[in-house]
Amino acid sequence: MRFSDETLRDIMARFRREMENGLGGDTNPTATVKMLPTFVRSIPDGSEKGDFIALDLGGSNFRILRVKVSHEKKQTVQMESQIYETPEDIIHGSGSRLFDHVAECLGDFMEKQKIKDKKLPVGFTFSFPCAHSKLDEAVLLTWTKRFKASGVEGMDVVKLLNKAIKKRGDYDADIMAVVNDTVGTMMTCGFDDQRCEVGIIIGTGTNACYMEELRHIDMVEGDEGRMCINTEWGAFGDDGTLEDIRTEFDREIDRGSLNPGKQLFEKMVSGMYMGELVRLILVKMAKEGLLFEGRITPELLTKGKFETKHVSAIENKEGLTKAKEILTRLGVEPSEDDCIAVQHVCAIVSFRSANLIAATLGAILTRLKDNKNSPRLRTTVGIDGSLYKMHPQYSRRLHKTVRRLVPESDVRFLLSESGSGKGAAMVTAWASRLADQTRQ
Ligand code: GLC
Repeated sequence: MRFSDETLRDIMARFRREMENGLGGDTNPTATVKMLPTFVRSIPDGSEKGDFIALDLGGSNFRILRVKVSHEKKQTVQMESQIYETPEDIIHGSGSRLFDHVAECLGDFMEKQKIKDKKLPVGFTFSFPCAHSKLDEAVLLTWTKRFKASGVEGMDVVKLLNKAIKKRGDYDADIMAVVNDTVGTMMTCGFDDQRCEVGIIIGTGTNACYMEELRHIDMVEGDEGRMCINTEWGAFGDDGTLEDIRTEFDREIDRGSLNPGKQLFEKMVSGMYMGELVRLILVKMAKEGLLFEGRITPELLTKGKFETKHVSAIENKEGLTKAKEILTRLGVEPSEDDCIAVQHVCAIVSFRSANLIAATLGAILTRLKDNKNSPRLRTTVGIDGSLYKMHPQYSRRLHKTVRRLVPESDVRFLLSESGSGKGAAMVTAWASRLADQTRQ
């Protein structure tokens, strides 16, 4: 699980090729990394204004926000939000129930905000791979992460949500734009830093978007300007490209997942799987008598009992005390040495994740540099996601490796403090302005 810089550079080169395959007209239909056009053509320019609702579905929380952007002297943003539950039986049930639930929560939110009689423009952050032919149409290609509601793949989620809202009949909504969470993050950070042209999520899942030259995007007409591309890099490796670096633990994770054979890169790096990867390694070590004097308990053998937040805690200050607590809860009666070893395993697994992301991000950065035809790249990367935010060492390791792999870049990493909601509102502002102009 530890890679030399040479291996990381090799992975970077492989991802570069995958990106090119996704962008090319002939290669796109069979490409693993989908490189989906988003129809977002610029980052915020400071002229956006209005009153918006943003829905955020598919990350660790389902959140609804009200975003007011005003323009007195300077652009200011005011936000209020609420988190709603998405129970397992809903995300694994029928699609119509899922969208009824979303519509019900939206109704509740509007009621609380006393705006049920208004028809506010809605921006929908939907954190799954979608094919767009315009901003307000998004056909779900496949569910990823924890979601698997039936009858949604192949459908336009805007139509499904509109149908659910109409069926209720107690309020109206105008869904103006659907954006991926990476795009929302890039736009949120782009609001504060105009140089932002990449958005990354390292949370339950992982993914990135960036601004590509339109002339390189065969799937969209036009040659002038740029468009944001949702790479869907989580699927990197689904065609076997990463077999040489996948381990027996990665294969076991995949076999036990909701989507075997898919999102193989995501399963090696993201928060939904990291704790489980560590657990599988601990089980193997215990079986070989290398840990806990060979003690194996039913808890240690239970899927999900070792969580990614535990990895973060164990790598934090006081990590050994935490390790002892967590392992004691698993009933394995750890010795001091066991705790040290487990801390080491956590570091190896989380470091691998940061290194792999550094390689794929490195590929995006060198592509941006080549697109600009300049010897150095100065850019900002907007980032969000629970793993990146909560793990005590992750960000530092990631930044360091990126700078080593792409020495010809000056990268600013900007944490999206307010998630992707603000960004979704920015895109919605742009979309509704466009709609007004066409109406006139
Ligand atoms: C998964 C989704 C992707 C999303 C990412 C982060 O990889 O397929 O669309 O951006 O998770 O939430």
